[in-house]
Amino acid sequence: MPNSTNQFIRPLTTKINDNGNLSIGGCDLTELADKYGTPLYVIDEHTLRSICRDYKKAFSGYEKINMLYASKALCSLATSKIISDEGFGFDVVSGGEIYTVYKAGSDMKKVLFNGNNKSVDEINLALKLGVGRFSVDNFFELSLLNVLAQSRNKTVDILLRVTPGIECHTHEYIQTGNLDSKFGFDLSQTDRAVDLIVTAYKNLNLRGVHAHIGSQIFETKVFEDEVDILIGEITRINNKYGLNLDEINLGGGLGVKYIESDNPPSTFDIAEIIINTINKSAEKYKTELPTIYIEPGRSIISTAGVTLYTMGTSKQVPNGKKYFAVDGGMADNARPAMYQAEYSAVLANKPEIPTSQNVTIAGRFCESGDILIKSISLPEIDEGDILCVFNTGAYNYSMASNYNRIEKSAMVLVNNSQSDIIIYRESLDDLISHDVVPDRLRDNVE
Ligand code: LLP
Repeated sequence: MPNSTNQFIRPLTTKINDNGNLSIGGCDLTELADKYGTPLYVIDEHTLRSICRDYKKAFSGYEKINMLYASKALCSLATSKIISDEGFGFDVVSGGEIYTVYKAGSDMKKVLFNGNNKSVDEINLALKLGVGRFSVDNFFELSLLNVLAQSRNKTVDILLRVTPGIECHTHEYIQTGNLDSKFGFDLSQTDRAVDLIVTAYKNLNLRGVHAHIGSQIFETKVFEDEVDILIGEITRINNKYGLNLDEINLGGGLGVKYIESDNPPSTFDIAEIIINTINKSAEKYKTELPTIYIEPGRSIISTAGVTLYTMGTSKQVPNGKKYFAVDGGMADNARPAMYQAEYSAVLANKPEIPTSQNVTIAGRFCESGDILIKSISLPEIDEGDILCVFNTGAYNYSMASNYNRIEKSAMVLVNNSQSDIIIYRESLDDLISHDVVPDRLRDNVE
């Protein structure tokens, strides 16, 4: 099987340029750091488009395939526009994500609204903007969605989010398809849900089932199990209720390569196993070939992104570790603190200098757990060097916070030696722009 973009640590356009610096998308990273400041998220357009095309190519042998991008991995106007132009729809989980993909000009019919506690306002926004599918998570939502759809005289296409009971070996917090999960209907509850839809909820049109079994998955067998369970489930429902459900949404989950020892399968491996299993299971259950949705997030955007930091102070613990601090950390990348996630990095201004020491990269936030990289080999480090951390496109910006009241970082898009700002760095005024001092306290305020 050919390689796909998610199997590389670095963006595909990463090079060492004539100045001896690292460049991505033809842009010298030290110049980007200089021009836009650090921390800086950088997205390589070529890498992003390449993975979208890998997915399309990988699934081209199956006619009834729909690709959605899971916006939670990174949601911005510019990236949504690129991904939509590549032919993807979107899996969204909030009013904010719905609004962003809408404003990016996406085809709202190709948007699926998913989530375990959608608000009335969010559902109304989705109905107003014509979101194509709702993945309904629980009994309360079935009833609420029916009422809200009825009040607009609409019938909405829905999938039932189910937990297929598959264990996959990824970090416990990012497993979602096992039985004790906050997401979706247990398979023992789907009959009751279908009963209600068929008999009472006239404004809901059930199209199929939806599952997501976890994230950063390296195994392929779990996708085989998932396809088989979901095809078995729609066949069972169809036979029992005389329905014609023909849609299966497999969620996301394909892993990426953060460090050398990571070995994710390619999009081609995953597509082959999914398509083979669909064919086998459709035959086994004597059913038509279903329409398949996949909704990868991390594997679409992660490899396209890097983060640039400026190296600052250092500390040698007597007889212990050597810490070097960068000007960002857990507020722009929460993953090491939350999931013990590991990353690879190099000094963008010294990519060819041999490594000579093992160091710990600390963040700047007031928390001992704010360690970006526990142990990494780097050359001699000087204050002002630029650290480039790879594979930060997914779940970095989208999980960023203003902890310690620090401005969120900017994001630039690079391509063909051009860089464009796609998210401005927050300013100090942005930070206080939503604060209000009640009038009764005003006298004490300058
Ligand atoms: N579909 C559903 C229903 C999901 O819940 C998710 C991710 C995806 C698709 C996309 O999964 P992906 O292809 O990105 O693995 N913050 C964690 C990851 C949480 C994933 C949550 N759901 C992290 O930083 O690792």
